[in-house]
Amino acid sequence: MFYQTRMPEFLSGLLGKIPAHNSLRRRVIVLVAILVIVTTGSAIADIYLPNLLPFLDLAGFSATNSTTGSVDISGPFFQTLGTNGRTCATCHAASDGFGLSAVDAQLRYYITNGKDPLFAQVDGSTCPTGPVNNTLVVNNGLIRIGIQVPPNTTDANPPQFTITAVEDPYGCALTTDSQGQQTASMYRRPLPATNLGFLSAVMFDGRESVTYPLNNEQTFAANLNTDLTQQAIDATLTHAQATQPPTSTQLSQIVSFELALNSAQLYDFFAGNLNGQKGSQGGPQFLPTQQYYPGINDSLGGDPNGQPFNPNVFTIYTAWQNSRNSRQASIARGEQIFNTQALTISDVPGLTTGTQTIAGTCTTCHDAPNVGDHSFPLPLDIGTSHSLQYETDPNIIAGLQQLQQPTAPVFELVCTQGTQAGQVFYTSDPGKGLISGQCSDIGRIKGPILRGLAARAPYFHNGAAANLSQVVNFYNKRFQIGLSSQQMQDLVNFLQTL
Ligand code: HEC
Ligand code: HEC
Repeated sequence: MFYQTRMPEFLSGLLGKIPAHNSLRRRVIVLVAILVIVTTGSAIADIYLPNLLPFLDLAGFSATNSTTGSVDISGPFFQTLGTNGRTCATCHAASDGFGLSAVDAQLRYYITNGKDPLFAQVDGSTCPTGPVNNTLVVNNGLIRIGIQVPPNTTDANPPQFTITAVEDPYGCALTTDSQGQQTASMYRRPLPATNLGFLSAVMFDGRESVTYPLNNEQTFAANLNTDLTQQAIDATLTHAQATQPPTSTQLSQIVSFELALNSAQLYDFFAGNLNGQKGSQGGPQFLPTQQYYPGINDSLGGDPNGQPFNPNVFTIYTAWQNSRNSRQASIARGEQIFNTQALTISDVPGLTTGTQTIAGTCTTCHDAPNVGDHSFPLPLDIGTSHSLQYETDPNIIAGLQQLQQPTAPVFELVCTQGTQAGQVFYTSDPGKGLISGQCSDIGRIKGPILRGLAARAPYFHNGAAANLSQVVNFYNKRFQIGLSSQQMQDLVNFLQTL
């Protein structure tokens, strides 16, 4: 039973990310289909994945390490807790660094003829009612996230803006229920349910860490536990369409399972083993010993232990700087570019105001040592959800032109109150703005942890970057970096070893 539902996801990931539209893929699909039949037909006693079991991706192999000694795939994270056959692992697959790669979604679509629970209409289709349309999950790995628009009549803290949909490609951008409650549909990538001990916000818009923030060393462990418990309840009720929340035992099993996990790239086709080879410290093995507390190495000078910001955020490939293996040397150069290459940050709500510019680096925003999220909650709007059609900032336009944005609704938010009254925003994802109701939060979302990237393409919250080259091309234009083609390749080579 268990393997009947789990095996297609597991195998599709194991066999990896085969580019679309070739005969190799057809052969792989046949092979996977045979394997699924064979393995589901036979009883398998072992319900653990060994630590560091390698999963193929385009750059090499990724892997997960659990501090419990192995990855137990029999617990509630892998069980059907709702009514539509989904488990947490439907969207957080071990083969995909506990995220979901679009290639995995595609493979599952073809293997199961669209019947995998991933494609449940509630949020695996562009709209929860009407005709089923799985294109966004199949092509971009996107899940529909419906967020209630803060009510603007009787609430003590009314939103500072009104919201309308100016582009509504699927017909459910903004819906109103019988109570008059509005819900906005956004389309977001599953964030990895691993490396969670390094978080400073839970969910792209931080909505699961509002009440118990992850901004203080003393309360961090307890708040993270509380947030992840509530997150698991909400995920079960929404994604799995459960009629009741999981039991408290199931919840604590889910949260301790997740918190024990670290995932990262393990092996690179050209550089070889990423951990322990000539002093390298890549791979998931090193992560349990990586120090972290809220505010560590804060780039804005707020480290609670008074440590000054060190831009050398990633140090795992320093030992390869003089390597005679050309790929290893390129990866080490890429790490240095990430740490120190000057870039010009402008028009980033949450960081800059007005026409202010900041001379920074990638690590101004990605400052948590060797993991690369921001160590304090700092949601930002770097422009990834803006619409080319409505955008006026030339740097954002140039950046967006490097991406393949999915077809998504565009919302118009008009600020009616507060210091930004009169301003108008166009975005496919208002981010934290829909949680707080504040104009200053519109479009702001967190930067994810940058480990295990190769296992979970595409990138950015809306999957707009099909691969890491597009990510780098975006930044090169967006923040006017002026990288040479060699530097861009070095940066890509580095990012895909994380
Ligand atoms: C249908 C797909 C789907 C299922 C099923 C699902 N998730 Fe998620 N998960 C997502 C998406 C999409 C996001 C990001 C949503 C957002 O930011 O608004 C996410 C975010 C998360 C995060 C936040 C990570 C971070 O960096 O903030 C955690 C933790 C998580 N999920 C755990 C779970 C657990 C536990 C379950 C099972 C109870 C589960 N998920 C089921 C799609 C899914
Ligand atoms: C001004 C702040 C800022 C700077 C500078 C910055 N980033 Fe980001 N980064 C973010 C934010 C915010 C996101 C999330 C955006 C989204 O999901 O749409 C992000 C997302 C990413 C992602 C995608 C992660 C994922 O899981 O989808 C990668 C990769 C990345 N950044 C790499 C870089 C590199 C490389 C540089 C330097 C060239 C850089 N960033 C500079 C803020 C920044």
